[in-house]
Amino acid sequence: MGNEQITLLSRRELEGMRRAGRAAAELLDHLGKMVEPGISTLQLNEEAERWTKKRGLKNAPLGYGSPPFPKSICTSVNEVICHGIPNAKQILRDGDIVNIDVTPIVEGYHGDTSRTFFVGTPSPTAKKLVEVTEECLYRGIAAVKPGGRVGDIGAAIQDYAEAQGFSVVRDFVGHGVNRIFHAPPQIPHYGTQGKGKRLRSGMVFTIEPMINEGTWRHDLLADGWTALTKDRKLSAQFEHTIAVTGDGVEILTKRE
Ligand code: MF3
Ligand code: CO
Ligand code: CO
Repeated sequence: MGNEQITLLSRRELEGMRRAGRAAAELLDHLGKMVEPGISTLQLNEEAERWTKKRGLKNAPLGYGSPPFPKSICTSVNEVICHGIPNAKQILRDGDIVNIDVTPIVEGYHGDTSRTFFVGTPSPTAKKLVEVTEECLYRGIAAVKPGGRVGDIGAAIQDYAEAQGFSVVRDFVGHGVNRIFHAPPQIPHYGTQGKGKRLRSGMVFTIEPMINEGTWRHDLLADGWTALTKDRKLSAQFEHTIAVTGDGVEILTKRE
């Protein structure tokens, strides 16, 4: 894994990734507006399927991996770190937090983005965790520049998260993304400034910090996907797909 080729995208390929990123951002906006007490995570999945089908798009999560992921989006509630599976019996309740993670495919390119939404009114702890996690994403993005290192990103995120009293998930990381959903390099959300692979113009990858209220360690459910905090305390996540440009960074999953 560590020695695999990192793809540098051409201008044309980057244009494809911009279209995919824009679709992902729009889908996520749309689903976020539906989040309220009483809605099930399966209803969010069904709306994602309607939205993408109408535009002739596929969702990368459906059938992905082993065992094949069974739904079209991930919905990760409260203590679920990532890869939560939408379920009719999971009704969102006032005070919950839910991460919605979408990856529509546009002309072969993947746009991968997620946000954590409040259901009704959050507890003070949930509110702080979610705000800190979003800030972690933007600090990670701000650390990206050509000539820098992958470790610059993790260091920026870890320094902030831990200073706020939270922990950084180690076992799930950001990733290269293009025509392939999960490509090299891996982008850990912890690390040391100046270490790791060099960042070069044309690299496209996700930054997707998962930040926990308590321990960073996880348990995996028997479904083979749902990752939850070992102490069952809260976890939040935000994700963008970004491109390293000639002089900095471009967020591809941001809506104009
Ligand atoms: N979208 C997730 C990520 O950010 C991956 C989901 S894989 C799935 O990398 F199979 F669970 F959908
Ligand atoms: Co994602
Ligand atoms: Co991702």
